[in-house]
Amino acid sequence: MASPGSIRPVRFQGPKGTRDFYPAEMARRRYIEQAWRTVSIRHGFDEIEGPTFESADLYAVKSGEAILGELFQAFSGKSPEEVEQVRSTGRAPYALRPEFTPTLARMFADRAASLPRPTKWFAIPIHYRAERPQRGRLREFLQWNADVIGEESPQADAEVIALAVGLFTELGLSGRHLTVRLSNRDLVSELLIESGVGEADLAAALTLLDRRDRMAAEEFARSCCQIGLDAAALAARLGEVQGEMNSALAAMENGGAMPPIARKSPAIGQLRGLIEALGAQGILKWCEFDFSIVRGLAYYTGTVFEVTAAGERAVAGGGRYDRLIASFGGPPTPAVGFGMGDVVLSLVLEEHGLMPEGERLAECLGTRPDAFVVSAGDESSDAVVAPLVAELRRAGLHARRSYKATKKIDKLLKDAAACYSRFAVILDETCSTGNVQVKNLDDGSQDTVMRTQLAQWITQHRSRAHV
Ligand code: HAM
Repeated sequence: MASPGSIRPVRFQGPKGTRDFYPAEMARRRYIEQAWRTVSIRHGFDEIEGPTFESADLYAVKSGEAILGELFQAFSGKSPEEVEQVRSTGRAPYALRPEFTPTLARMFADRAASLPRPTKWFAIPIHYRAERPQRGRLREFLQWNADVIGEESPQADAEVIALAVGLFTELGLSGRHLTVRLSNRDLVSELLIESGVGEADLAAALTLLDRRDRMAAEEFARSCCQIGLDAAALAARLGEVQGEMNSALAAMENGGAMPPIARKSPAIGQLRGLIEALGAQGILKWCEFDFSIVRGLAYYTGTVFEVTAAGERAVAGGGRYDRLIASFGGPPTPAVGFGMGDVVLSLVLEEHGLMPEGERLAECLGTRPDAFVVSAGDESSDAVVAPLVAELRRAGLHARRSYKATKKIDKLLKDAAACYSRFAVILDETCSTGNVQVKNLDDGSQDTVMRTQLAQWITQHRSRAHV
């Protein structure tokens, strides 16, 4: 038996598919979050947030099969009825949020009467999906959501796509690294019907197309047969319209007029409008049509899109969901938006050497210390460290200090540089005369400054260093 007071250590690992964020990882995460927030605000979006768990039914009804299989279920276990429900149905009353769109639609529907049209919202929630962890896919991840609600014109579609492109540009990525692949569910639905699918099987056919890459060829062929889909005919039809639409996009990108499109349908009208709106935003060079994209979530209606990078899972995905808000009891309200995860985005940035590190990262985040105070003198200068650091902090400066007993100046300055401090404040024998030595760690220059003037001096020289 363990003696009282003795502790038997038990080691735990974080659950599979989750991450521990030590300071270096946290800084990289903040860099991405900061870019998401800055660009959202620049484009006129307001930040919102919702609960981290919702009624499981919210997702069961609104998100569709693809997400249902990935829910992390949640219940308190406190009520016997709840426990019995979970035992008998296998379904808990709550689920950790696997996505944000149903929450956003619920929130909009609740206050629809008082919200402006369009409403432009962004959020940076943590999501949970019980997926098999793999490159680019974890079980806990951050996802930037941006949505334009209450505007049905393709300008809203182009506005959210321009926001995603704005983010990529902010981070140094270009159309060489990423492609925005555009599609339209109404068009694909039209072509599915022309390829033998009945109206009743349309939803199943779209789900089948979305899962195609994850299915064996025979299984796909068998599933097509079951819903009367002639896959070869569909591929030919999709290819033909895709070619025409991509030529129209290229013509517009090169400053020409939009050529006529042989096929006439409302979906083609939407796509022509989308090309024009993307052209007005100056982002056609990022885009191409790819009608193999249908998106796995059940609520999407017209335009859908994904952003992809070579060799990676999708960086972002989104589209129109014009019926979702009404399905939550709100007025009929068109909406369009996307979600972008931090996992693949980080991989792409790292792959292209675009994730800043060290001092540059600290500079971007505004976390570089202004002063790192060290004592290289006797006990009387040691005694000045704590009050001086407190003074600097009261003056609004980011001040750190050495806790080491060593008086070796090289070692102390190395610690100052290791946390990317702008200045090292050295307390030495001049301390007794009311002076301190200030070393600029960016250019190596050194000044003697009166202690009473130090905060002001650093503030002035820090802002000069910033200009
Ligand atoms: P989604 O395609 O399911 O769409 O997810 C969007 C993005 O979230 C993906 O492209 C990926 O970057 C990231 N993501 C998804 N699952 C994972 C995972 N397991 N691990 C890491 N990252 C992941 C939606 O969620 C829609 N609700 C987006 C939306 C907003 N549509 C309209 N508005």
